Amino acid sequence: MSKMKIVLCLLSMFFFMAVPVMGQDDEGEDYPQEPIIFTKPVKAVIFSHKTHVEDNGLDCDSCHDEPFEMAAGTAEENDDFNMEALYEGNYCGQCHDGETAFASNKRCTLCHIGVKGYNRLQGSTAPEKEKKGH
Ligand code: HEC
Ligand code: HEC
Ligand code: HEC
Repeated sequence: MSKMKIVLCLLSMFFFMAVPVMGQDDEGEDYPQEPIIFTKPVKAVIFSHKTHVEDNGLDCDSCHDEPFEMAAGTAEENDDFNMEALYEGNYCGQCHDGETAFASNKRCTLCHIGVKGYNRLQGSTAPEKEKKGH
């Protein structure tokens, strides 16, 4: 089977099970398909593997295991997971410095989805709930 067919096959399996949990990069490494949402210290910041890995072609190595562990919730346990650290070039700020990617002191709402955005996502990712139309 061609790589494409395998990918399509996997994709259709995921759709069939209606739980698209993991995606894969070129080397076939699993990364979370659903965005990771940070809620500490503020609710809520969104991070999408899909955007970073698929759309921008970043390797796992560029974020793992530095500055991020492959375990959601780890960075949030650190007292310095805040804007000051980002401005100093740590965590997301390693790239979000205005050169590699948009600066951390701009476009706040691209990362910050707020409490409303958080609630909306909880609604849209819960398969047992019926989705409301707009
Ligand atoms: C641009 C940065 C970035 C890239 C590139 C990236 N990740 Fe991540 N990844 C993160 C962040 C941020 C977290 C959450 C870490 C935390 O909460 O402390 C995470 C968490 C994870 C987790 C844990 C998910 C969970 O629910 O516990 C896995 C597995 C993972 N990444 C796999 C990958 C793989 C495989 C790749 C390459 C295909 C990859 N990541 C590329 C930033 C990245
Ligand atoms: C290894 C580099 C790197 C790291 C680390 C990184 N990003 Fe990004 N990010 C990028 C690049 C490159 C883009 C695309 C270029 C741009 O938008 O400036 C991007 C785009 C984005 C976008 C806009 C795209 C979208 O999803 O609509 C958001 C939001 C974002 N990043 C959030 C984060 C957050 C939150 C973190 C930390 C948890 C983070 N990034 C860590 C490189 C990185
Ligand atoms: C590249 C993504 C990104 C951008 C852009 C960004 N933030 Fe943040 N912000 C984070 C992350 C990650 C955290 C820590 C996780 C959390 O609090 O959920 C955070 C935390 C915070 C906090 C609580 C911690 C602290 O430093 O006091 C505030 C307040 C905040 N951001 C405000 C802002 C404002 C205002 C802007 C725009 C000027 C902004 N952020 C832009 C990612 C971002």
